[in-house]
Parts: sequence; C-alpha cells; structure tokens
Amino acid sequence: TFIVADNCVKCKHTDCVEVCPVDCFYEGPNFLVIHPDECIDCALCEPECPVDAIFSEDEVPEGQEVYVELNAELAEVWPNITEKKDAPADAEEWDGVENKLQYLER
Ligand code: SF4
Ligand code: F3S
Repeated sequence: TFIVADNCVKCKHTDCVEVCPVDCFYEGPNFLVIHPDECIDCALCEPECPVDAIFSEDEVPEGQEVYVELNAELAEVWPNITEKKDAPADAEEWDGVENKLQYLER
C-alpha cells in the first residue's frame, strides 16, 4: 500500500485524490489518508503530490513510521474524498516544516 506522511499535514493540496482509480482517500480537517485495504498499489498518486508527502509503505522516511498505522486508523473514521479542493491558504508556508504530527487535527 501507499501512505500519506508528515508533509501533508497543513498542506493538503488534494491533487492526489483525483488520480486514484479506486477512490481510497479519506479526509480529515488538515490531513488525509489512504485506506491500506483498498489501495491497489498503482503508484499514480505519488508523483501528483506537490509536496511529496506520499510514499510506498516500504519507503516511508525515517521517523515517519507512525504514519503507516495512522493511515489505517483514520481511514476507518474519516469520510471519503474524490474531488480536489483548495489547499489551506497558508499551505506554502508549511511545506517542508518537520514533525507536523503535533498539528494533525482529528
Ligand atoms: Fe490510489 Fe494508486 Fe495511490 Fe493507492 S497507489 S492510493 S490505489 S492512486
Ligand atoms: Fe496531501 Fe499531497 Fe494529497 S499534500 S492531500 S498528499 S496532494
């Protein structure tokens, strides 16, 4: 499966959801996740993210392993998203900020 990791928090550009052939993205207030049981590993979403926040679960950056579990957990409770929407107004400022887990809203 692919997962959404730290740099999506507070960036949430949502380009990724438009290309997913199985519509397996789920949206929270300032982050979104991939449902691991629905993802078919097509890899189409990975290059679509303008802030490079999507990874194969085998290639999750060091220190971001917690996001594997978070994607599975939050995909069960958040609503599905299939259409791109506007990113937060301050998304650019948050691109590349480290350790954004503390800002993740549920
Ligand atoms: Fe969807 Fe493919 Fe990305 Fe999985 S890898 S979330 S199936 S676009
Ligand atoms: Fe997040 Fe990138 Fe998608 S910022 S919403 S993973 S396009």
